Amino acid sequence: MTEAKLEAWLDETRSFAPSPEFAKQANAQPTIYAEAEADPVSWWRRQADRLVWHKEPTNTLEWDLPFAKWFSDGTLNASVNCLDRHVANGKGDKVAYHWVGDPEQDSRTITYKELLDLVCQTANALTELGVKTGDRVAVYMPMIPEAVVTMLAIVRLGAVHSVVFAGFSADALSSRILDSDCQFVVTADGAFRRGTAAPLKPAVDEALESCPNVKAVLVVRRTGGEVKWVDGRDHWWHETIDHQSTSHTPEFFPSEHTMLIMYTSGTTAKPKGIFHTTGGYLTQVATTYNQVFDVKPDTDTCWTAADIGWITGHSYIIYGPLINGVTQVMYEGLPDSGGKDRWWKIIEKYKVTILYTAPTTIRTLMKWGSELPKGHDLTSLRLLGSVGEPINPEAWMWYRENIGGNRCPIVDTWWQTETGAILISPLPGITATKPGAAMKPLPGIGVDVVDNDGNSVGNGEGGYLVITHPWPAMTRGIYGDPERFKETYWARFPGKYFAGDGAKRDEDGDLWLLGRIDDVMNISGHRLSTTEVEHALVGHPAVAEAAVVGASDDTTGQAIVAFVTLKLTTDDQGKDQAEVIEELRQHVAKVISPIARPRQIILTPELPKTRSGKIMRRLLRDVAENRKLGDVTTLTDPTVVNMISELMDTSVTSDE
Ligand code: WT7
Repeated sequence: MTEAKLEAWLDETRSFAPSPEFAKQANAQPTIYAEAEADPVSWWRRQADRLVWHKEPTNTLEWDLPFAKWFSDGTLNASVNCLDRHVANGKGDKVAYHWVGDPEQDSRTITYKELLDLVCQTANALTELGVKTGDRVAVYMPMIPEAVVTMLAIVRLGAVHSVVFAGFSADALSSRILDSDCQFVVTADGAFRRGTAAPLKPAVDEALESCPNVKAVLVVRRTGGEVKWVDGRDHWWHETIDHQSTSHTPEFFPSEHTMLIMYTSGTTAKPKGIFHTTGGYLTQVATTYNQVFDVKPDTDTCWTAADIGWITGHSYIIYGPLINGVTQVMYEGLPDSGGKDRWWKIIEKYKVTILYTAPTTIRTLMKWGSELPKGHDLTSLRLLGSVGEPINPEAWMWYRENIGGNRCPIVDTWWQTETGAILISPLPGITATKPGAAMKPLPGIGVDVVDNDGNSVGNGEGGYLVITHPWPAMTRGIYGDPERFKETYWARFPGKYFAGDGAKRDEDGDLWLLGRIDDVMNISGHRLSTTEVEHALVGHPAVAEAAVVGASDDTTGQAIVAFVTLKLTTDDQGKDQAEVIEELRQHVAKVISPIARPRQIILTPELPKTRSGKIMRRLLRDVAENRKLGDVTTLTDPTVVNMISELMDTSVTSDE
């Protein structure tokens, strides 16, 4: 469809009716909404029967706002739910993962029984290294099977994994290790990126210089080559695990036992350690995986194209799919490792039926053209998903036509690290879909869109997205900081969870997510705070002051634009501006991660400030997006913005 045609179509019809053929075989049936609505708490109790409990819970929800307990007197083991149960049911030979390496010759197929054996061996090895129930273990690994094995072994022991995305810097890793006092780290010597080995272990070594409590580091050999070694602290994976017994008797833990910590950016410079507990989290990831993706364990091959370093990987590469007993594809590489049609080759080869990815990737694949997917047989696909940021209607339609062959329903799934599982999404075969809309809260979830005073807005109006009652996979808080948890999520609209997103209800009452309304940016589906990047910039000796905004970007959704004033006394004054800018960009990449490297840095003698000294980020965002400037009357010096606009026009944009 051309853009003009699409717009006309959106104006007229605006929606795709659910397909009756799909509905006939769908896991969720239309009555599900009413069933859940009648009594959401008991509905969730019934969903908890998807898990294998050692002791069945008799309690469902205990709600002491904002602290929830779900299924609190039940006991269970997360890894038993993912593995032992399927092996005990005779499904041991079923493939759990078709692992596809970044280099095309690398692949590995792992059955449920093989995975269980590996997890037991690793649990035994971790015990030998001293890991005990409740200990925090940092995981800093590429997308290799050992990462999944490690996470499952950790939770098998009742320990807590804190996975740090392997693209994060040494500084980011050490601050996360320190914040939750991790005493163990699991990593790899390196990772492959478009066929080239990139080292990982040096970042761990550097991070651990400031983490004296770390007792042991377990290292997978992935790329080979020289590695610096700290005797007594470092252990090779193969030397520690291969000789271990494949049997391990699990213990069972209370439902509210902490299972995982995942750091995510908030509006301050310090990332928040969002933690999740066992029974509620597993219940909801299993339920949503079953209902939203409509998985059929006997026939589906599912591919969540995400990284285990983010919550999407936790919930929908590991726990949701394994509890449901499906076969998956797990891919190590980038979309263009081994050619720009690599994804389509993978789908064709493994006959993938369900694909889940982010709008930023869809837009990248779209940029590479429709000819590439056309050259491959993608008819195995039957459902497509999107997550991480609002999906623009054009990308949605491209996905539907070129990848889904106009036959696959698309589920646009809204959720967050904090929500643990999907909260807003169409149900395939049941809910109509609209390009760009997440449509409806899932069964058992209460969502509202409210105005500044907390009153619900009407159809056709926008406002703030709030969740109105507790859900099983909701975060139990920010690790070590209950006050910050209350303030961040529960203070803005008393009694309601404030998500930080803007949303709109259209004329039919369906939900459209409009992006963050706070200082959180969304860069290619990665969450970063403006303050975090500003903090990194002012940490550079040449920088006096920095203001960072997220400006809209055709491919990455948002891109980072930084306005920086330099110190007058610095030696850098003599340097070429382009050189200083490049140095600052590298500095941010080093301090946080390459994903945080600003697209543009504008050096300016001054920043626009209000009379009370606050930087006017709203104006800077207007400048960064080339918009007409709004009200500048509260500025100390209105001419500053004009000057910055001119600087912006002449600045260089970097795309790497
Ligand atoms: C933020 C959460 C959930 C896993 C990946 C991101 C944005 C997420 C959607 C969607 C519009 C979305 C929101 C949210 N977001 N999914 N389908 N439509 N926006 O997790 O890093 O915790 O980020 O991502 O702004 O608040 P996260």
